[in-house]
Amino acid sequence: MENISDATKQFVDLRRHMWMAGVETELRRLIWQIAVTGKYISAKIHESNRKLAGFENIYGEEQLALDRSSDQILQSQLEYSGFVREYASEEQPDIIQIGDGDEQYSVTADPLDGSSLVDTNLAIGTIIGIYRGPLAQVGENDIVAAMYITYGPLITMVYSAGKGTHEFVLNREGEYVLSEENIILKDKGSIYSLGGLRKDWLPEHLEYIEFLETEGYKLRYSGGFVPDINQIMIKRGGVFTYPAVKGAEKGKLRLIFELKPMAFLIEQAGGRATNGTVDILKIKPESLDQRSPIYIGSKYEIEKAREFLSKKE
Ligand code: AHG
Ligand code: MN
Ligand code: MN
Repeated sequence: MENISDATKQFVDLRRHMWMAGVETELRRLIWQIAVTGKYISAKIHESNRKLAGFENIYGEEQLALDRSSDQILQSQLEYSGFVREYASEEQPDIIQIGDGDEQYSVTADPLDGSSLVDTNLAIGTIIGIYRGPLAQVGENDIVAAMYITYGPLITMVYSAGKGTHEFVLNREGEYVLSEENIILKDKGSIYSLGGLRKDWLPEHLEYIEFLETEGYKLRYSGGFVPDINQIMIKRGGVFTYPAVKGAEKGKLRLIFELKPMAFLIEQAGGRATNGTVDILKIKPESLDQRSPIYIGSKYEIEKAREFLSKKE
């Protein structure tokens, strides 16, 4: 599908774009349903943010942590969709059966990533993975779609259903309209986003970062995975890494809730994502809360990461 001209982009909303891109009907409805839920989560951020509603909300109710209330909003929206088999989120210990077991899709969520940043007014986000079939059997390439919503100065949503990666912006009328279509990363970027404490980095990781520094990469790290990845996506290149560190060889970020969806989106945009040796999308999760080191971004930086990490003593 050739790119839509700038003049008409603003009139192409999410549903129309997915239809034009040939996304399967139920998947179109599911992605749309989740995008709409992003508006409710954004409202919750505003309503519950202690800067606006004080330490208690207007009803004096005990304030649910924002990530838990965001999780409740998402789960309840999906329960009534009629075509979601299972739901799992990093806010709940187990997979939740919400369909009657023969629906096509299951959904994973990091309902509010970076929630600890909400009082700083930095951008935070929602990360969604859409998998075919039951989540307990997720293996290679079972992820069929992914999306993230960024709650920043604008609310933007980036999705892929396997036909490229595209960005939409929520306009004043409450419609998600197309802003960037068929995002393709350059082979090499100029920003790096570095998680983990430098003093805890393993030698081969430190060598990799020092190599990037000789090439003049600029540091861009907000502490929010969604805006940090979104910056690499929209600037068309660079690398985000949250590595294995001393005392936490699995890194910090969660494979099924955070890394597989972002890996899908970045690969659909021509980028790469690895744990340092294996592609993120090829890793079969052993448990819901499994963590993994992550190197994600444009090709050159990821190939270099593999090189340096293969020198591990
Ligand atoms: P979450 O808020 O869902 O727990 O995720 C926070 C994650 C991710 O957003 C970010 O990349 C990472 O925590 C930042 O970790 P540090 O504070 O250790 O840098
Ligand atoms: Mn997270
Ligand atoms: Mn979270």
